[in-house]
Amino acid sequence: MTDTQDVAISVRGLKTFFYTNNRCNKALNGVSFDIKKGKTLCIVGESGCGKSVTAASIMQLLPTLSRIEEGEIIYHSDRGDIPLHALERNGREMRRVRGAEIAMIFQDPMTALNPVYSVGFQIKESLKYHTDMSRRAAHERAITLLTEMGIALPEKRVNDFPHRYSGGMRQRAMIAMAMACNPKVLIADEPTTALDVTIQAQIFELMDKLKREHGTGIMLITHDMGVVAELADDVAVMYMGNIVEAGTVDEVLRNPVHPYTRALLASVPVLGNGKDQDIKAIRGSTPDPLNRPKGCQFADRCDFATAQCQAMPDETHITPTHRVMCWRHEELSGHGAQ
Ligand SMILES: Nc1ncnc2c1ncn2[C@@H]1O[C@H](COP(=O)(O)OP(=O)(O)O)[C@@H](O)[C@H]1O
Ligand SMILES: [Mg+2]
Repeated sequence: MTDTQDVAISVRGLKTFFYTNNRCNKALNGVSFDIKKGKTLCIVGESGCGKSVTAASIMQLLPTLSRIEEGEIIYHSDRGDIPLHALERNGREMRRVRGAEIAMIFQDPMTALNPVYSVGFQIKESLKYHTDMSRRAAHERAITLLTEMGIALPEKRVNDFPHRYSGGMRQRAMIAMAMACNPKVLIADEPTTALDVTIQAQIFELMDKLKREHGTGIMLITHDMGVVAELADDVAVMYMGNIVEAGTVDEVLRNPVHPYTRALLASVPVLGNGKDQDIKAIRGSTPDPLNRPKGCQFADRCDFATAQCQAMPDETHITPTHRVMCWRHEELSGHGAQ
């Protein structure tokens, strides 16, 4: 794919399965991608497609009933390659990496904030654990971070407990915590869904700054195509445990090949196209993950499906960076009749 020097994390053939009531949900069924240094990879797809499980697999924060069945997740750190998939979930090495070198912003801030400690204490603990900053410097840094996150009266707010913060403020406090150690990789799972647009823009600006100034590689999970168009360098489209299409942002947005990518793009309003756009919801819904169709997972909902789609298509490269899993990629990629 790319020169490994530019890659912060490479994921290859990742399979993560859930086991509940003696049944197996192949939540990730062979997923490969790179998070590149100083670039933003956006992961898009409907709910239930495996985006959060991908993030949790990298962070080794999977629920107990799930496990990485196959594949690898390699973190290309300054001290050499680290196989994250093989590390003990709560072992020393993983705890060293998690939070400081690979940080995560969750959908729900209360999964990251501890209700019994002040927000400032939590940011400072992270700094003390992972850096050799003095108590005083850590306090200053915590205030700076809260200020950057647009939290009013940061000198006072730093001592407040999470329940004194509004939902939006908690979200921002958690983002401050994630950014505190200038991580090499930042994984953000729909980080701004609950926030108003002004704050959202500030947060994206800060993520961009982290990327520019520290070469942080960002994996951003979002369902907002506007965000993708603005922030992504690369895009991966997920559907039912597979990356069905991936490429540079230009390749995927300008020449979407997979019918699922096309349907996703047609289902959202495009900024600047006015009020009378033809927005088409994707027909049908995602299949039951415990009772999946045999071949292409999207076939039942696809306008282009043929008998061939009863079998799973292989991944094909359209360019060295643009790849797709669809039997009809040739016709659809603009080389054949549209
Ligand atoms: N804690 C869990 N227990 C059981 N199944 C789960 C759990 N978390 C996710 N899954 C399953 O894994 C699949 C992928 O889910 P997820 O990654 O959360 O989707 P999304 O793309 O919306 O983030 C779904 O089929 C979901 O039901
Ligand atoms: Mg999710």
